Amino acid sequence: MTGLLRKTNLDSDLISKIYHYSELGSTNNVAKSMILTEKKHGFGICSKTQTSGYGQRGNYWESPEGGLWCSLAIKPDIKPSKIGLIPSLCALSVAKALKSYNISTRLKWPNDILNSSDSKKIGGIIVEGKVSSKILEYLIIGIGINVNNTLDQYSLPLRTNITTTLEITKTNISLVELLNAIINFLEEGLYRIKSGEEKVILLEWKEWDNILGRKIVLTSNNIEYEGIAKDLTLFGQIILELDDGRKITFSSGHVSLC
Ligand code: BTN
Repeated sequence: MTGLLRKTNLDSDLISKIYHYSELGSTNNVAKSMILTEKKHGFGICSKTQTSGYGQRGNYWESPEGGLWCSLAIKPDIKPSKIGLIPSLCALSVAKALKSYNISTRLKWPNDILNSSDSKKIGGIIVEGKVSSKILEYLIIGIGINVNNTLDQYSLPLRTNITTTLEITKTNISLVELLNAIINFLEEGLYRIKSGEEKVILLEWKEWDNILGRKIVLTSNNIEYEGIAKDLTLFGQIILELDDGRKITFSSGHVSLC
């Protein structure tokens, strides 16, 4: 861990403080140990760079300077049964925040944010958490967005699959302002979940969705399922219709478009 750079105080019920570092292994890991040792939540950990950032399925996440690499440690007042919708809500919050910068995105279930014109990945979300005795103890929401980055900051294989907001708009964005916008949309969405309005989130997600009605390959527990992405449930699951007509519901998995 390299030096705490500064602390930002926010006027938000969800996140009151953001700690900014210059270099960390993974902001998710630091947020996790802080929530466990200090027994407090409602904070964010951001780092200019990460040396061992990780994404879904434990994949290494390249985090060069200029991107938004941040983890939010929260304890939302929602039932554990509703957690399934959180990854989608987070991706939706990022998409809405980017829209306020005129960056048009699409969402690939469960939590990938793609540039709408070429489907290249701008960012992703990883949600980790703990539930004990049917109580949600905490959630760590890891947000990774390629923002003020040029493609030459990434490894060669990645350059063909990703893009950055700088590549799209040719202008820099304030990372703090972008994060604030994401937190505001997230807070609003969590309030909706708490008050039983999950349907609103689902309907909004569908406006941004990139896969419903399309043929996809969904990999879950190392098994590949090919079929049409039919629908999303109020619990954030996807319903896949296989070629033989069977419908299977998945809570997690990796999607590739056919
Ligand atoms: C994905 O695989 O699409 C999710 C990527 C999430 C990366 C972010 S960067 C900040 C936070 N710290 C991590 O180690 N991972 C998440």
